[in-house]
Amino acid sequence: MNTDELFDRAKAAATKAYAPYSHFQVGCALLTAQGNVFTGCNVENASYGLTICAERNTIFHAVAEEGPGMKIATLAVIALGHEFPPCGACRQVIAEFAGPETEVWFLRDGKPFAMTMAELLPAGFRI
Ligand code: THU
Repeated sequence: MNTDELFDRAKAAATKAYAPYSHFQVGCALLTAQGNVFTGCNVENASYGLTICAERNTIFHAVAEEGPGMKIATLAVIALGHEFPPCGACRQVIAEFAGPETEVWFLRDGKPFAMTMAELLPAGFRI
C-alpha cells in the first residue's frame, strides 16, 4: 500500500469522526509490519477530556487485532479542512509501536509530508 492509498483510507475514516464539539474530523490509517491496514477516527465526548484522537484509536484497534507485537510500518493522519501533525499524546503512543525511522505522514500546504518519529518526538519517555 503506497502513501496515496493510505491517505485515501485516512480520509474515508475522517468522514466517520464523532466530533460534535470541535468539528475537527480526523482520520488515521496505519500500515503494520505484518502488512495489514487499520483505520480510525476521533471520537469526542461531552466530558471533553475523554475524547480519543484518531491516531490512538487506530493504534489501539491494530493492537486488538494483531496483538502486542503490532509494529507500525507507516502511519498517515488527515483532518478534513485542517492540517496538523499528530498531537503530543499521540506521538508518545506512536513511538511505543514504532522505530526512530518510522515515517508519519500528514498534510502540509495541501501536500503529503513525512516526518520520522525521531523528528516528531526526539526525547520521548522510555522505561
Ligand atoms: N485530534 C486528533 O484526532 N488527533 C490529533 O492528533 C489532534 C487532535 C482530535 C481530538 C479532538 O476530537 C479534535 O481533534 C480537536 O482537538
